[in-house]
Amino acid sequence: MASVLVTGGMGFIGSHTVISLYENGFDVVIADNLINSKTEVLNRLEQITGKRFKFYKVDCCDKEALRKVFEENEIDSVIHFAGLKAVGESVRMPLEYYSNNINSMLTVVELMNEYKVRKLVFSSSATVYGESEDVPFTEESPLGMCTNPYGWTKWMLEQVLRDCAKAYPDLKVCLLRYFNPVGAHESGLIGEDPKGIPNNLFPYISKVAAGTLEQLTVFGDDYDTPDGTCLRDYIHVCDLADGHVKALNFVATHDDSVSVFNLGTGKGTSVKEAVAAFEKACGHEIKHVFGARRPGDIPVCYASTDKARKELGFEAKRTIEEMCSSCWNWQTKNPDGLPSDS
Ligand code: NAD
Ligand code: UFG
Repeated sequence: MASVLVTGGMGFIGSHTVISLYENGFDVVIADNLINSKTEVLNRLEQITGKRFKFYKVDCCDKEALRKVFEENEIDSVIHFAGLKAVGESVRMPLEYYSNNINSMLTVVELMNEYKVRKLVFSSSATVYGESEDVPFTEESPLGMCTNPYGWTKWMLEQVLRDCAKAYPDLKVCLLRYFNPVGAHESGLIGEDPKGIPNNLFPYISKVAAGTLEQLTVFGDDYDTPDGTCLRDYIHVCDLADGHVKALNFVATHDDSVSVFNLGTGKGTSVKEAVAAFEKACGHEIKHVFGARRPGDIPVCYASTDKARKELGFEAKRTIEEMCSSCWNWQTKNPDGLPSDS
């Protein structure tokens, strides 16, 4: 049976996407080097779906190791999630970020060419829109002026894939620009499991709500926004996962060599509103203080969702309340995250 290769499929977005793919009748093979995920995800996926997915512990930069995956399976399409994603870390470790994110993608496309695999969905990010304040971001908004090496890797890889799609006419690429993925599967068995102290808002709030961290610092309350805090387009990870199924169906049924879609809700939620929604979900106050602005943050970032709705048939369904309650469910069921690999 033809399979979808999900690189980085043990990670936060990848694991939720594996479930959506399975529920929509796709056969899935996962390749992940576990640099930012744990083997336990495979057990959890089995608990949720009843299926033990075929998994290769492999670095996507290692061509010979990854070739085995293409050799041993009938790969029909690839969703490429594998990459490093921490903005702050990318500033401290640019070489690791450029090397891992660029090489893993190049290796995957080289093997796709070799094995005549023609359909690719790539995890890009709203970060490619850079520092522009012209919102909402449409797929036509100017790109570049990224504020960190992580963002540049996404920007560069979009260009690499456009060039590849020109040079290899059978290749069809879908670039998905995610806004702010949050939340967790309704079972509470999988979710976002960051190492150490979280950098992102929702994992941080979850830890404060659980009492593991003392308080949240809200980065800036003097922005030119209705309540002075930054607005972001938070999208439930299960909606995002469904977007990947739509994207795969899109590349299978359209001739576009490159298609680009925003995946967001089209709504901006402020940090204060996110805190209030989380307080409602967990039933108690989230201790927070207001601090300085975080360098590189833009005041407002949300998606235009028109193109995804019209062409992809994608619309995010879940509310900010569901994002918070699923996060809290995941947090309370897994206070210390998933058990580590021994
Ligand atoms: P994640 O870190 O949870 O998942 C990424 C997975 O890729 C991890 O399991 C990691 O072990 C694996 N990986 C990394 N490098 C690898 C390599 N060379 N070979 C094999 N496996 C490798 O991150 P996520 O939040 O699930 O993000 C998935 C993708 O979406 C990433 O490419 C990320 O840049 C992109 N993205 C994420 C966000 C976000 O806010 N979470 C926003 C926009 C785009
Ligand atoms: N924030 C706080 N306190 C915290 C953490 C975050 O106030 O402790 C604020 C930030 O200043 C920002 C908002 O919460 O206003 C969201 O911050 P996140 O770090 O959760 O998310 P970002 O919008 O900065 O970035 C995320 C991903 C990037 C991705 C981008 C666009 O981390 O990888 O969304 O998709 F590129």
